[in-house]
Amino acid sequence: MGLLEQPAFLALQKMKARERALSLSGRFAGDANRFSAFCVPFGQQMQIDFSRQHWSSEVKAQLCALARDMDVNSAINGLFADNQFNHTEGRAVLHTALRMPAGESVTFQGSNVVPLVHKVLARVKAFCQQVHSGKWLGFSGKTIRDVVNIGIGGSDLGPAMVTEALACYQKQGIRAHFVSNMDGAQLAQVLNKVDAERTLFIVSSKTFTTDETMTNAHAAREWLLAACGDEAQISKHFVAVSTNAKAVQAFGIDAAQMFEFWDWVGGRFSLWSAIGLPIALTLGFARFEQLLAGAHAMDMHLRDTPFEQNIPVLMALLSVWNINVLGLNSEGVFPYCQDLKRFPAFLQQLNMESNGKGVNNQGEKVSYNTGPVIFGEVGTNGQHAFFQLLHQGSQAVPGDFIGFARSSYDYPVHHRKLLANMLAQAEAMAFGKSYAQVAAELTAEGKTEAEVAKLAPYKVMEGNRPSTTILCDELTPYNLGALIAMYEHKTFVQGVLWNINSFDQWGVELGKKLAATLIDDLADETETTAHDSATNGLIALVKEWKS
Ligand code: F6P
Repeated sequence: MGLLEQPAFLALQKMKARERALSLSGRFAGDANRFSAFCVPFGQQMQIDFSRQHWSSEVKAQLCALARDMDVNSAINGLFADNQFNHTEGRAVLHTALRMPAGESVTFQGSNVVPLVHKVLARVKAFCQQVHSGKWLGFSGKTIRDVVNIGIGGSDLGPAMVTEALACYQKQGIRAHFVSNMDGAQLAQVLNKVDAERTLFIVSSKTFTTDETMTNAHAAREWLLAACGDEAQISKHFVAVSTNAKAVQAFGIDAAQMFEFWDWVGGRFSLWSAIGLPIALTLGFARFEQLLAGAHAMDMHLRDTPFEQNIPVLMALLSVWNINVLGLNSEGVFPYCQDLKRFPAFLQQLNMESNGKGVNNQGEKVSYNTGPVIFGEVGTNGQHAFFQLLHQGSQAVPGDFIGFARSSYDYPVHHRKLLANMLAQAEAMAFGKSYAQVAAELTAEGKTEAEVAKLAPYKVMEGNRPSTTILCDELTPYNLGALIAMYEHKTFVQGVLWNINSFDQWGVELGKKLAATLIDDLADETETTAHDSATNGLIALVKEWKS
């Protein structure tokens, strides 16, 4: 039975009109305990406030019934056991094994993969020790100071976001740089900043075939060779993280300098594997372990918590409520934390590459909306950019506000103001400003009745815009691990409810193939006629203007 036919979903549809008629102001006015009733804790250090969503206890109960009826429980258990969630690529999905403590067991094809995971982690740790202790030397005998990660998508966004998010924990004297784009500008800018003698490149690619990564890696190799002048010295400056040992060796990186991961780790779920090497190198291996521990704690929360208190399950259910019942198809994410500035981009890949699907697990076109459009920006910058639409635009956009009670930086006044802004935005979205309030303000300013009537409609804010607030004590490696895993599991449970494969990404393939032929077309001096008139016309313009 599909989502739309589920009795619990039909019941939710019936509740829609009644729930829509209730404003958030009304809900809070009618229930003094609404905050505590809809706030869910994660340990002692995180609270998720769902009270400003457009729901009631009845809606929540019905959504949890929907999750039970759709057997979300079995799916969650499957995430910790041999599974075939990624049936279109014939792959299991076991990233939770990457953060299992040693001694635990996750069986895949008859054997326990946790020891494999810890074997690679031990290699990562040993490598970090070599680099940090100054035993790992570059071609001229100098220690490593700069690490350049070359990768894209999941082989870039996770480590880049985490390294930046935990910047204040960087104590090893190692600076991380990330090169992902096919635009040579990015590589050039990084190479301008680093010294070849003291630079280590990490070529990160699950497949080791991704064009952006291989193009950047080959260019970096040329640059290094030009500096050291000796092929034999290159190995001191290149390591790889991949599942494809053959391709790594073909590139010229010895197996001993490759950190392995496995095809049961999806690219966008891979930062917990050796793909996290830049994190361990810049923050120290112990911090990387804390990140893994936080993610594991969230795994256990997902596995062992009843739906009514299960944070990722509730987040996914709210998406279904907002998207499939209320028709709100975008989701914002607003971290009030400068160090989380890459978090929205990370979540875009995590959720939009996972759930941007229009065909269900039976190969049929789905008849309901799936993945939302995710966007976001750090507060308070977002407030001065797109929040106008959130407050007064013609469509409501649910958003997650993320804040930390303590700052890692010694600017207490800034931090108080930052948090005040976060709280103010969520409050303004929920409760707005009525005509009566606006009129009273304008009258107090000395405006005439006619002026009030003219201006007031522009200043009214209807409110009633749903949001969730995630409040945490501090941005530590452990808490960040939990936060990321929380969104990973939200994404997974959404996919279960929408009956889609959240773990493939066929939609990105066609563009890659077309680009491969267009590279040749652009190089060819003769007129290109093989494409549609727009593509042919644009190629002609490029050829005309390039010289
Ligand atoms: O964008 C498609 C994709 O396959 C992502 O899923 C992946 O994270 C990225 O490309 C990079 O892939 P790889 O790690 O194999 O280079």
